[in-house]
Amino acid sequence: MAKLSKRESSISYMKENEKLFQCPICKTNMQVQENGNITCEQKHSFDIAKQGYVNFMTKAIHSMYSKELFQSRYEIIQSGLYNPVHEKIANLIDFGVQSILDTGCGEGTHLAKICEKLHPQVVSLGIDISKEGIFTAAKHYERHIWCVGDLANSPFQAQSIDYILNFLSPANYTDFKRILKPNGKVIKVVPQASYLQQLREQAFAKSEKEQYSNEQTVSLFKDQFSKVYIERIIYDQPLEHHLLPKLLEMTPLGWHIENNEDVAINEITIDLDILVGEF
Ligand SMILES: C[S@@+](CC[C@H](N)C(=O)[O-])C[C@H]1O[C@@H](n2cnc3c(N)ncnc32)[C@H](O)[C@@H]1O
Ligand SMILES: [Zn+2]
Repeated sequence: MAKLSKRESSISYMKENEKLFQCPICKTNMQVQENGNITCEQKHSFDIAKQGYVNFMTKAIHSMYSKELFQSRYEIIQSGLYNPVHEKIANLIDFGVQSILDTGCGEGTHLAKICEKLHPQVVSLGIDISKEGIFTAAKHYERHIWCVGDLANSPFQAQSIDYILNFLSPANYTDFKRILKPNGKVIKVVPQASYLQQLREQAFAKSEKEQYSNEQTVSLFKDQFSKVYIERIIYDQPLEHHLLPKLLEMTPLGWHIENNEDVAINEITIDLDILVGEF
């Protein structure tokens, strides 16, 4: 049998899971057509691109994140820098999970690596407002549903998702509450004081921005949920020399450094809070 194209396999996978979609414009149910259009009852229509993702945005937005930034993130995350974080998150997810949505998924590697540790039937979806991010995700990872869209108005049905991941990204708790199943959970990852501290020192030596506090974000999170659990994960990882330019490019922190040649970073600190909340 001839191998399906990327678009054809996405059409078939999205068709299998079409009950998860809801029109972001009129909120009616959606159907995945054989020609690769996802259409709602009011005939709003979104096309599955040849790379296998779908764009649910109704107007173009300007993102400060470029294709190069996402490619750098892809290489850094693939290098294993966040492996202990992925391990910890996968351990927080119940065995019976059916669906997991990464909101602000960027280039998709966190979600892909976490899903490798879960059972293969989990339906995994990623949404990001940046087309460049989703384009990169779809290029590298098949059998995930990649959507360009706004996490504050996501194209998913009410009570359809078991776990919402939100990794170093903005959150919208009203929409998260709408789409989560009754016992669903949000797993939000936020930087702690020493996160990427070597980069922070180089970018903002001796200024206030060298210090980072997540107090406000954590406090807002706690206000949203009836049950909250927080786990901190902190470790140093050696940084291979060839990854340094990627590290400088993958976060806006690196953009503050004027001369990359002056930078010497041999190891990097990962310091994150993993917040788990149930409404
Ligand atoms: C700091 S990046 C983190 C990306 C990824 N989670 C990671 O850790 O590599 C923040 C991401 O949130 C996305 N984002 C910002 N606002 C968004 C929105 N309203 N809806 C969906 N994604 C959004 C950005 O495009 C960007 O990819
Ligand atoms: Zn519609």
